[in-house]
Amino acid sequence: MKLTQIRSIEDLAYPVGPKPEKPAEGNALTGKRVFIRVDYNVPLDKKTGAITDDSRIRESLKTIEYALASGAKVILASHMGRPKPGKHEGLSLEVCGARLAELLKAEVLLPEDCVGDAPAKVIHDLRAGQICLLENLRFHEEEEKDDDGFARKLAELCDVYINDAFGAAHRAHASVHALPRLVRDRAAGFLLLKELRSLAKLVDHPEKPYVAVLGGAKVSDKIDVVEALLQVVDTLCIGGAMANTFLAAQGKNVQKSRIEEDKLPLARTILERAAQKRVEIALPVDVIVASSLDATEGATTSVDAIPEGTMALDIGPKSVEAFGRKIAMAKTVFWNGPMGLFETPAFSKGTFDIAKVMSGVSGFTVVGGGDSAAAVKKAGEAIAKGFDHISTGGGASLELIEGKKLPGVDALRSGEVAE
Ligand code: 3PG
Repeated sequence: MKLTQIRSIEDLAYPVGPKPEKPAEGNALTGKRVFIRVDYNVPLDKKTGAITDDSRIRESLKTIEYALASGAKVILASHMGRPKPGKHEGLSLEVCGARLAELLKAEVLLPEDCVGDAPAKVIHDLRAGQICLLENLRFHEEEEKDDDGFARKLAELCDVYINDAFGAAHRAHASVHALPRLVRDRAAGFLLLKELRSLAKLVDHPEKPYVAVLGGAKVSDKIDVVEALLQVVDTLCIGGAMANTFLAAQGKNVQKSRIEEDKLPLARTILERAAQKRVEIALPVDVIVASSLDATEGATTSVDAIPEGTMALDIGPKSVEAFGRKIAMAKTVFWNGPMGLFETPAFSKGTFDIAKVMSGVSGFTVVGGGDSAAAVKKAGEAIAKGFDHISTGGGASLELIEGKKLPGVDALRSGEVAE
């Protein structure tokens, strides 16, 4: 879909005439109840429940501040986690509200639900320039069912709908899919537009050479993206546990390394297809091995001589060098998935070294969300700054690269309003 088919929050604020860089009260959003769907599905510390990475909250600030400066009544909504029906422990958005209040230095009102009397009362009393964050949308199972009745309840709370939740744009859920179709004034927020523009550069005529780096645990999670990438990339570097399945498919003895036995034929097919398309698949030549996932130390070995009783938990220095040579020459680089068990210091070097190499590349560099984005941030601010785009969406960025339509983006298209 062309981005020109979607309006931005600025188009709604200033439907005619020039759009000032800084919005001011008196524009079309002033006094309106502006519902902003954000993605505050942030990682939490398992023990303390504290936010361990607030990037998604920080990235939402530009749109929120724009609405506030326009004198809107701001209503934020998000999902968090995947609560089972009736079970809500630890998945309240309260912690996100507190962080947002700190970042904005403003009060954030938190009704105890996202629909019904509690939010209706808070929003009724909301003044221009005030913010209310609704409780976790997924506390109602109708959200994931894209339920029309639930969407209508949310629609009653707002005059304007803005989607800034790129991370959830691939979900056909009520707050991203059914709801916008009920609101005439619907548009994209700054984060959603930034994500779509950056990721489009990987799909529409990417500059060559194009190198993609894939990692993570499973081949099965990445089949569609591998298929799509084989159409456009020059080189596909594969690391992480998924590389083990490819190495095994080439006949190497990976010993105790984690592989997907049932995906060996698929891995062979991918290798053959890549050869036909003249896409180079670069696999690790050396790995860091240990005897178990709980190990705190590893040893470097060639992939041709993995010792009995050990498993590969990271890529080795020669692999980093080989991948790095390809990456350094690329004009476009896309990365998704860590190179090893990077949460454990002994098996983090491969992932961090790849982040370092990419960060120094002059070509266009993008990291898909999820673990690889977390790894880049963990590698340090200086390294993270070297990337052109660090996506806030894991699944969403992959689906976009796979060429799939994102329901949350499609629903923003201006046009009909559902009766
Ligand atoms: C994400 O973290 O990728 C998004 O918030 C979507 O979450 P989900 O995979 O639970 O739908």
